Amino acid sequence: MRPSQQVARAEMILVAGARPNFVKLAPLYQALRAQSKFRLCVVHTGQHYDDAMSGSFFRELDIPSPDVNLEIGPGTHAQQTGTVMIRFEPVLQSVSPRWVVVFGDVNSTIACALVASKLGVAVAHVEAGLRSNDWSMPEEINRVVTDRLSTRLYAPSQDACENLSREGIPEDRVRLVGNIMVDTLLAQLPKVDQDRVLSQVGVRRSGFVLVTLHRPSNVDDPARLARICTVLGKASEHEPVIFPAHPRTQTRLKEPSLEKALGDTRVMAPLPYQAFLGLMANARAVITDSGGVQEETTALGVPCLTLRPNTERPITISQGTNQLVEPEPTAFLRALETSDGRRHRIPELWDGRTAHRIALDLSDAQ
Ligand code: UD1
Repeated sequence: MRPSQQVARAEMILVAGARPNFVKLAPLYQALRAQSKFRLCVVHTGQHYDDAMSGSFFRELDIPSPDVNLEIGPGTHAQQTGTVMIRFEPVLQSVSPRWVVVFGDVNSTIACALVASKLGVAVAHVEAGLRSNDWSMPEEINRVVTDRLSTRLYAPSQDACENLSREGIPEDRVRLVGNIMVDTLLAQLPKVDQDRVLSQVGVRRSGFVLVTLHRPSNVDDPARLARICTVLGKASEHEPVIFPAHPRTQTRLKEPSLEKALGDTRVMAPLPYQAFLGLMANARAVITDSGGVQEETTALGVPCLTLRPNTERPITISQGTNQLVEPEPTAFLRALETSDGRRHRIPELWDGRTAHRIALDLSDAQ
């Protein structure tokens, strides 16, 4: 349904805009439905719009078609944020909910939190409190502002609660609930035909490296992207390197010198959730700059090398399988060879019950 049409009233709007949001929305939608206490309205902002980045996630994760699609599409940060705000405001007025639930740290998250808080509607933020302390990341600005505007802050880990406390967020707004992406991972993994996924891609269990990269700081900086392609190319001399590339990255990798540097790295279109999960669970190691993938590899016990100078998810390093790396050939290849994921443990409350805890808390909230 387009935003211009009248939308039915509901007590709660769940907002999703970009690929990682869908993975977080799915278990909460199902937990709230099971509770049948609130009438729900799902708003898709349309920040991600391709079947590969959006439609396939709705189908595989059993999310119903959104009640409203704001269809904002691509744009600069100001264009995306502003267009979501302009289109979300009349929807919010028409639905008139008690709660707007937002997820993660994307532009759609901050835009809807701003609109709701200005109209006096309570905002619940799922994945609150994560901080990279790196203000050059658009997501860090989105995180800090969204948390400041939220009435309920659902934190995935104790370090996130500590960040919020340091920023003066009253403790009674914060709930430590665990990691909601792990709910989806644990629910979906048994449904994945792992042998089929591996044979479709033509790789063996623990016999390949999986890559995902899309951060502007990696893929929009030509010199850094060239260094990254070089280290991936070197890695591909030793074992298969599989690289399902985000649209932003695919565009950049068309440059012939980068194609050459990538060597035998197999660049392919983005994969649907289940196929990607099947590959991640069986990879010898994963190379990424995604927040969600850092967490998912920790949940799976698969070694993860994060191509970033910092992370807002330090628990994936202190307890999980993650390490930060730079695209410097010698150190990078040594880290890739020696990473084995041992010593890791699953962080507290990353148990598949996070959505249930949030649904219970929302139903008790005044
Ligand atoms: C966004 C989020 C990022 C998240 C990532 C997950 C922000 C600030 N960033 O970054 O935190 O980790 O999503 O993927 O919100 N595109 C398509 N098809 C799509 C979606 C995007 O081709 O379905 C293209 C767009 O045209 C655009 C590019 O991909 O040129 C980037 O999309 P955009 O939404 O601007 O940000 P992401 O890099 O995906």
